[in-house]
Amino acid sequence: MKVVIALLTLLSAQAVLADCTVDITVGDTLKFSKDAIEVKQSCANVTIRLTHSGALPAGAMGHNWVLTRSKDYEAVARAGASSGLSGNFLPADDERVIAATPVIGGGNSTSVTFSLDELDRDADYTFFCSFPGHWAVMNGPFEIS
Ligand code: CO
Repeated sequence: MKVVIALLTLLSAQAVLADCTVDITVGDTLKFSKDAIEVKQSCANVTIRLTHSGALPAGAMGHNWVLTRSKDYEAVARAGASSGLSGNFLPADDERVIAATPVIGGGNSTSVTFSLDELDRDADYTFFCSFPGHWAVMNGPFEIS
């Protein structure tokens, strides 16, 4: 009986974990596999797993996943252009950046884990790829429900 209870506990823990992990795929086009992301406020931490299933290198078709307030995303994306690939096309030490993965190329994957504690459920957040020229189309709403 104890074994059964332990297994059930493990399963529910995995269910909670799965709920707070978001898998997103990108390829050799300017598109995230998800147009919008919704996470539960009950998630202590959210993990975004980004997989680049394309073939092109990061310098040609790199993608990352960046989260800012919606009002900040365009300015952050523009400011990041001069940081180059080595700077992941993001302004260094910019507090407007809530979470970000490195820029990856085809065949690679990456992830970022962050807390929702500092986020305001009623504010508007946008996720985007900060690669120059991508952010205008590679973006979507990030909602906390
Ligand atoms: Co991109």
